[in-house]
Amino acid sequence: MNVIDLRSDAVTLPSREMLESMMRAELGGDLLGEDPTVRELQELAARMFGAEDALLLISGTQANLVAMMAHCRRGDKVIVDSKAEIYRCEVDGMVSIAGLAPMPIEGSKGTFTGDQVRQAAKALDSDASSLGLLVLENTHHHAGGTCWTPSQVADAAQAAHELGLKVHMDGARVFNAAVALGVPVSDYMRHVDSIQFSLSKGLGCPMGSILVGDSDFIDVARKRRGLLGGGMRKAGAIAAPGIVALNTMVDRLSEDHANARRLVDHLEVLEEIVIDRDSVQTNMVVADISATGMTAEAFVAKAREKGLMVSVLGPSTICFVTHRGITEEDVERAAMIVESVIPACRSGVCYI
Ligand SMILES: Cc1ncc(COP(=O)(O)O)c(C=O)c1O
Repeated sequence: MNVIDLRSDAVTLPSREMLESMMRAELGGDLLGEDPTVRELQELAARMFGAEDALLLISGTQANLVAMMAHCRRGDKVIVDSKAEIYRCEVDGMVSIAGLAPMPIEGSKGTFTGDQVRQAAKALDSDASSLGLLVLENTHHHAGGTCWTPSQVADAAQAAHELGLKVHMDGARVFNAAVALGVPVSDYMRHVDSIQFSLSKGLGCPMGSILVGDSDFIDVARKRRGLLGGGMRKAGAIAAPGIVALNTMVDRLSEDHANARRLVDHLEVLEEIVIDRDSVQTNMVVADISATGMTAEAFVAKAREKGLMVSVLGPSTICFVTHRGITEEDVERAAMIVESVIPACRSGVCYI
């Protein structure tokens, strides 16, 4: 059975061009700053973001941790949306390795305002100077791939900067946001102190994330990366597909967004599947399946048996993520499988 995998855009496989670039990559000692391919990738990323410098890291988790360690002193507090990946999935590293304390705030569809940042700071009983960092997630995974607009970022970042905080964007999918809104990623960079983005999700590389920021910040980040054992030797082999990705994979993200909208068109007719269309802004679709009477776990397991892989987001919410490996036909078939999973199909006729 040909399985349609909509669990994550991290399941994308590298293109042939990427694999060939790995074979051809000119390599050197990256720890000494002598790997020409890593340097080319970092320079390209810095240029695209309008940043002074960039640093290649193994993963988004490592890039976020390094950014927090480079921006903050131990004991600092980090204001972060309560549904952000950094809080939900990476808080252990933030607390136990970086020695930071999260201050979660409630965003709306993944975003929040400058006033909310000010209120969070005001609500703090302890020393306000211990506030170190504001984190924004763009696109916001748990909210279903929602975008921050550059002006929303400007508002939150201005409040943070007035309070003396640095601002880091967990932009694992920042190119999805930029493509969806038709803005260059530099429109985000001008408001924040650092952005990390993933090469291995929608952009399709085997691995890697890049952190961008000013030169002093990147110098410190490089040291923190080393502290975490993240210094690499002949990393050009990883960097080469990153160059291909930045040159060839960014604009095509709009195809994934179109497929996500197509999926909504198909699913919307099923009354047991409830989708907030306004939240479908990039390559993710979050569906509330409570009306099916099934738990998300049970729904996902049943779909898997029928050849569709999706992820559980909450007790009664599931998430579909489109990516380069997914065609229009896959989207149609995925919708048919979803309909067939719903107990006692409303129409009485299941497609399969
Ligand atoms: C928004 C966001 N940030 C960070 C990460 C972590 O990235 P990585 O899997 O490369 O460590 C993820 C992973 O899904 C993510 O969705």
